[in-house]
Amino acid sequence: MLVCDDERTLREMLRVLVRRAGFTPTVVDGVTAAREALSSRDTPFDAVITDLMMPDGSGIDVLESAKARSEATQVVVITAHATTERAVEAMRKGAYDYIEKPFDNLVLLATLEKALEKGAVIGENRRLRDAIEGRDRGMIGTSRAMRELRDMLARAANAPTSTLITGESGTGKELAARALHDWGSRRDGPFIVVNCGALPENLMESELFGHVKGAFTGANAAKEGLIPAASGGTLFLDEIGELPLSLQVKLLRVLQERKVRPVGGSEEVGVDVRVVAATNRDLESEVDEGSFREDLFYRLNVIRVRIPPLRERPEDIRPLAQHLLEKHSALQARRRTLSDEAMDWLVRQPFPGNIRELENRIERAVALSTGERIELADIRPEGGGSSAELVAAPPIGEGFDLEAHLAAVERAVLFRALEASGGVRKRAAELLGMTFRQFRYRLAKHEDDPDDSVE
Ligand SMILES: Nc1ncnc2c1ncn2[C@@H]1O[C@H](COP(=O)(O)OP(=O)(O)OP(=O)(O)O)[C@@H](O)[C@H]1O
Ligand SMILES: [Mg+2]
Repeated sequence: MLVCDDERTLREMLRVLVRRAGFTPTVVDGVTAAREALSSRDTPFDAVITDLMMPDGSGIDVLESAKARSEATQVVVITAHATTERAVEAMRKGAYDYIEKPFDNLVLLATLEKALEKGAVIGENRRLRDAIEGRDRGMIGTSRAMRELRDMLARAANAPTSTLITGESGTGKELAARALHDWGSRRDGPFIVVNCGALPENLMESELFGHVKGAFTGANAAKEGLIPAASGGTLFLDEIGELPLSLQVKLLRVLQERKVRPVGGSEEVGVDVRVVAATNRDLESEVDEGSFREDLFYRLNVIRVRIPPLRERPEDIRPLAQHLLEKHSALQARRRTLSDEAMDWLVRQPFPGNIRELENRIERAVALSTGERIELADIRPEGGGSSAELVAAPPIGEGFDLEAHLAAVERAVLFRALEASGGVRKRAAELLGMTFRQFRYRLAKHEDDPDDSVE
């Protein structure tokens, strides 16, 4: 596997990760070195992970060289949020997928796994799957809500029935969807994830349904869609609420007729998929407003699984924290424990970003703590509690500047939401009930602020 990144720390992290997943990494620091590595080998690489923006060129150049060397090489692009558009370009040019920084190690492993399945590399030996599942088995939690959820998933797993999973951001919707797949009779079939909000409408259609050769400019070869690729397994439609209306109609037809027609094609192909959809939106009210089709909603909502937010089941925090600590200690190859004080503090937090937020906090603490034991200071956000103090007890007196104070409060709230979402702006916006544009606009006012403190 070829790893290409100009940033040394990321390179080293990827080296360890790839090696731990059972592959032999060749690690290079830029486009020129990547080209050399690609041309100097007798056998092509199974996969390439490349950064997008590097001093000596673009990851797209690496992609093109890799694809020219062998079509079978699967390329995963790593991108900063600001360059997502280039990532979409990379997809158009044949990249398998892209992940945004900062990323979760397991997300990268899972993406690689899927990429390699597509390149038919792992087939039998499933090394990556073992690496992932060995560390991330099942759904942790001792609360009554969690026990009921596991029961429900176990019962629903063997039904062929469409299932709708609802829950706030970071509650474990994708994990629940995987449980439905892994615990059911289709477990040996593919589990295909479609993020309905990730691609523009025109790319989305051919991504989902596939296209025939010559269907549009740039369609030099026929491509199988994700829906037919899920045949015999599970199709997970993540963020289903983001699916444009025109595609909602087309998806409905697939569910009704069990057939798909690739873009530009004249023949339909039969598909046998179990559909699991997830959303953090209130689809019922979107149906009322007319932004989500009622007929599709009823097709999907045959079984409904609701995942409660973490604040409704605080007794799960402790076992989850312990599990996530073990997971990230293993992934980062460090032995870490949590001090009682740190654990007691965690248990009292509201976690608006749910388990994802808890996980981010623990992952970061494992990475940054210097001692074996993670102390409260390692896990509590910097300036912890100060945004609350700022609102409750503003420093009024002579020279008090209301505008500056309100700006500081706004800044604290925005950064708090970013922290809860693990730096993902789209989710942070959701946590604050804003559109992404509104959030970006407000954040832009603070980002160049050289003063990092809340005050
Ligand atoms: N019950 C659980 N036990 C162990 N890990 C969990 C549990 N629930 C969630 N996680 C972990 O928390 C993280 C977030 O979960 P997941 O991605 O499934 O959430 P989501 O609801 O799909 O979030 P989003 O709406 O943000 O996409 C994942 O790393 C997942 O493995
Ligand atoms: Mg999700």
